[in-house]
Amino acid sequence: MEYIQLLRRLERVIEETDFAWSLCLVGEDQSRKLADLTNALKRPASASGDEKQIASGYSYWGTEPAISWEQACRDRYYPVMKEGIDTFGRRWRSLWSTFGGDKKFHYVSLGPGTGEKDRAILALLHSENPTMFYAPVDMSAEMLRICLQPMNTLPFIRRFRSQILPIQLDFSFEENVDELNELRERLVADEPVLFSLLGNTMANFEDDIALVERLSRHLLRPQDRLLIEVATASQLDDVTAEAAGREYQESNAFCTFVTSALHQCTDLSIDMENLQFETEIAGDRSILIKMLYRNRSGITTTMTLPDRQVVPFPADDTIKLYISRKYRRDALEVDLRNLGLSVESNLHHSQTGRGRAQFGLDLLLLSKQPSTQPSTPAQDVFRRPR
Ligand SMILES: C[S@@+](CC[C@H](N)C(=O)[O-])C[C@H]1O[C@@H](n2cnc3c(N)ncnc32)[C@H](O)[C@@H]1O
Repeated sequence: MEYIQLLRRLERVIEETDFAWSLCLVGEDQSRKLADLTNALKRPASASGDEKQIASGYSYWGTEPAISWEQACRDRYYPVMKEGIDTFGRRWRSLWSTFGGDKKFHYVSLGPGTGEKDRAILALLHSENPTMFYAPVDMSAEMLRICLQPMNTLPFIRRFRSQILPIQLDFSFEENVDELNELRERLVADEPVLFSLLGNTMANFEDDIALVERLSRHLLRPQDRLLIEVATASQLDDVTAEAAGREYQESNAFCTFVTSALHQCTDLSIDMENLQFETEIAGDRSILIKMLYRNRSGITTTMTLPDRQVVPFPADDTIKLYISRKYRRDALEVDLRNLGLSVESNLHHSQTGRGRAQFGLDLLLLSKQPSTQPSTPAQDVFRRPR
């Protein structure tokens, strides 16, 4: 049987059965990922969270972290996510209604999480473009599986199932973003694509602006759009920074999530007393929240890593588990403009709840100005033959 025939038959099976089959394109070598994660936990001792770490993406990687993330998103003590998800449909519809251009887009969701927001986006995009593709991209296969569940309640899901292409890929690597772009080009050529980076995901990356710059440079064309959702603070001072740290700390479900990757990949018996939330004001652009696991026992202990190596975990040593940020909106917009991105629409939502008035969630619809630089012969040489 020819490969194309096999794919057509598969497509029919997916369309015609109620079982939750999903085809997934795997772009990651899992064993290499595990080696990278393991090596990052072998680094020297540091009291400041600058050595041992669980980098963004690994926090959600594996069954235990993915399930605990799903639970954290439902916790009303973790408003960035719970309130973000609950209000997303309304905010998205309002923002999209102000978009004046042709609304026929394919949709690539970078880090779909629990999928509820993508469901709201698809409900509108599909009505304009029923033959559209939906590609959720996540380095966590478990997260991809979770994100597809809300899609089952879309009224058009039966026919739409074969237009869903989950992609397991770490989009923090430039080469991977390049490959994703190549795939997009082969699948939909110059048809417009809406990309999204929602749920303050960019804030989890050490070099957040460099991430957006890479995505913009490799993926975004003038006909595409990038939808970003960030957590914002109306002022950057010590009191607000402290409140930002507390917002995470007060959610037991979030604390379980943030320690779950460590629990999954080491034999450490997790002591929540060791979990610390450190905040700092990063220039005039954001509040940075660092979540560290610090050995506060006063003695050197050990931890066994996935390769069975036993490494010391000295007193006061730290493992950086996660970072997040609250952005100052105008400063972020300046950074985005400096990357050649225009903010086409911006929707601000003020968080509710006592002591949270200074925090918000912002949805930004971005587009890229056409490049004024012609492609050089050197760039053309490296384009792959079709
Ligand atoms: C903060 S959650 C946001 C989820 C969702 N967008 C929302 O708003 O509810 C981050 C998502 O991005 C994924 N992710 C984080 N870093 C990633 C990376 N380097 N490559 C691919 N996916 C990543 C996580 O697995 C998770 O699904």
